[in-house]
Amino acid sequence: MCGIVGVYLRQDACLPILVAGLRVLEYRGYDSVGVGVLQGPEVVVRKRAGRIEELEKALGQGDLSDASIGIGHSRWATHGAPTDDNAHPHTDVAGRVAVVHNGIIENYLEMRRELEEKGVVLSSETDTEIIAHLIAEELDCGVALDQAVHRALGRLQGYYALAVLIGGDRPQLVCARKGPPICVTATEQGAFLASDALALLPHGREIVFLEDGDVAVLAPASITVRDADGRVVERPARRIDWDAQASDKGGWPHYMLKEIHEQADVVGRCSKGRVNLARGAVELGGRGFTDHELRKIARVQFLACGTALHAALVGRYMLEGLAGIASDVDFASEFRYRQPVLSPQTLAIGVSQSGETADTLAALRLAKELGCSQLAICNSIGSSMVREADSSILIEAGPEIGVASTKAFIGMLVAVYLFAIRAGRARGVLSEKAARGRLEELHKVRPYVERLYGEDMSARVEGLARRHVKAKGFLFIGRGVNYPIALEGALKLKEISYKHAEGYPAGEMKHGPIAMIEPEMTTVVLASNDAVASKVRQNIEQVRARGGPVICVGSDAESMAVADEAVEVPEVGPWLSPLLNVIPLQLFSYFIARELGCDIDKPRNLAKSVTVE
Ligand code: F6R
Repeated sequence: MCGIVGVYLRQDACLPILVAGLRVLEYRGYDSVGVGVLQGPEVVVRKRAGRIEELEKALGQGDLSDASIGIGHSRWATHGAPTDDNAHPHTDVAGRVAVVHNGIIENYLEMRRELEEKGVVLSSETDTEIIAHLIAEELDCGVALDQAVHRALGRLQGYYALAVLIGGDRPQLVCARKGPPICVTATEQGAFLASDALALLPHGREIVFLEDGDVAVLAPASITVRDADGRVVERPARRIDWDAQASDKGGWPHYMLKEIHEQADVVGRCSKGRVNLARGAVELGGRGFTDHELRKIARVQFLACGTALHAALVGRYMLEGLAGIASDVDFASEFRYRQPVLSPQTLAIGVSQSGETADTLAALRLAKELGCSQLAICNSIGSSMVREADSSILIEAGPEIGVASTKAFIGMLVAVYLFAIRAGRARGVLSEKAARGRLEELHKVRPYVERLYGEDMSARVEGLARRHVKAKGFLFIGRGVNYPIALEGALKLKEISYKHAEGYPAGEMKHGPIAMIEPEMTTVVLASNDAVASKVRQNIEQVRARGGPVICVGSDAESMAVADEAVEVPEVGPWLSPLLNVIPLQLFSYFIARELGCDIDKPRNLAKSVTVE
C-alpha cells in the first residue's frame, strides 16, 4: 500500500534520498509516485502515474538537484484512479503546502463541499488534497505549521500517516500519525521520516515510532514530537537490527525465492533464546503472560487475514492439542462487523506479518473493548499491533519484501507452537517430558526445512510445475492440521500466478468440489503419515477414480504410492508437518508463476500491507 518518505538535510541534495527511499518501499505495491521539494522558498512537485522510472523521467536532468528538503510518496489508489493528478503530493491553491498521506479521510466529501463553497478549486479526486487546503487555511490564521497541522487534523475523521512540507522564509517538515505508522530518525546531517522503518535503515537504526495523535517537527539533528494535547513528549527510540542486506535481493531472481530459502533461518531465529530444552520450557520474555494468567484463559480467539489467517488455523490445532484451550479463528474483517460474544477470559491473538493490517488491528481493538486480553504474533517490531496489544511475540522473520508471504508464515507457525507449549506447561496439560519431546521435534525440523528447498527438491517441484502449468484449475485438499496448508497452497498459487485454485478440507470434497474433477483439474493432496492418513488416501482414490491427476505432498508412503506424482516430505511430530508441507507448495506456485511470466514479487492488484479496509 502507500508509502511515505521525507528528509530535511543540512546541505546535501535530498532527491536521491527520496527516490532511494521510494525504491525501498516499492515492495508494498503502488500505482503512482511523486515528490515535493523546496527549491529556495518554492514548493516544487513532480508526480506520475506508473512506476518510479516514470517519475525519474519527470525529474529530468537535475534542475532540482540543490533541494535539500522534500517529501515523497508511492500511492495505491483508493479515492480516484491512478493518474498524474491524483498522485501525491497535493498542494494548497497558493502552492505553499505539500502533503503526502497514507490512510483514509472519512469525512472528505463533507470537507470537500465546504472548501468548494468557499471557492477553493480542487485539482484531484483524492481525499488527501483537502488536507493541504485545510492546513493552508490554518496557516492563514498565523499559526506555526505544527499547530496548523494539529488544528487541520482536528477537523478530519479517519486514519492517516502524513508528511507536510511548507515553503517560504521558514521551511518546515512535519509528520503526523493517527492509525497507519510513521517513524523518524535524526543524525547530525539531517532528519528522516518514513512510513516503514526499512526506508530509514540507511540513515539510522534508532527509530522513533510516532503514537496516534502525535505531530513531529523535523530539522537536521532534531525531532520535536507533540502529543494529541499539544504537549512536547519524548517517544522512546527502538533499535532495529535488521541486516541492511536483508531487504536486498542478494543475487536471487525474486524476493519470493530468496525468502523461501530463508525459512530454516527463521525457524532458528524464532526459537532462539526461547527454548529451554533441559527444563522442557518455553521462555517468551517481554510483556509475556504469567502462569496464573495462562491458566485463567477459557478460550482463544484468533484474528487475522490471508496467509496469517492460515497460520492461525494451524494455531487452533496447536492450542487445542498442546494446551487444551478451546480456540476459534475468524477473518478479522468479519469479526469486526459481527457482534462477537466473548468473555473477558478470552485471549484474542492477532496474527500479522506487518502488524498494520487495518482489519486485524480493528478486530483486536474490538476484542480489547470487550475486555479480552490480547497477544500480537507479529513480524514488525514497532507496529501498531505490537504497541497496542498486552503482549507480543515477534516472529523474527526479518523484512519480508515479496508480496506473497512465505517466511513470515513459517515464523508464525513456530511462534504459535512455542506459545502453545508455554501455555500447555502452565496449565499442566504438558508434562516437562512431553514438552521437551515437542521442543526436540522443533529442533529437528530446521534441517528438514532447508532440505525442502534444496536443489533436488526445487528441480522436482519445477518439473511438476511445468507439467501442470496448463491445468484448467487446481484443487488443494488436506485434513486436520494440514487443512490450512491446503488453503495456503491455493492462496499462494492464485495470488502470484492468477490460476484458479481452491483449498478445501479433504472430507468436504464429496459435498461439492468433487464435481469439478476431470483430467484438466489438478488436485494437490496434503498427505502426512498421521491420524487422518487413511482418510486422505480415500480422497486420493476418489479423485483418481474420476480421472483427475493427483499430486501428493507429504510423508505418507501409501498415499504417495496411489497418487500420480508425489513430493516426499520428511516425517515430523504431529503439529509440525505444516511447516514442511507448505514449502513444496510455495515453490510450486513460484515455478508456475514463473512459467507464466507473472510479476512474482508484485502481483497485480495486490499490496504488501493492507492498511485500509
Ligand atoms: C498472502 C498475503 C496476504 C497477507 C494478509 C495479512 O501471501 O501476503 O494474504 O497474509 O494481507 O497481512 P499481515 O500478515 O501483514 O496482517
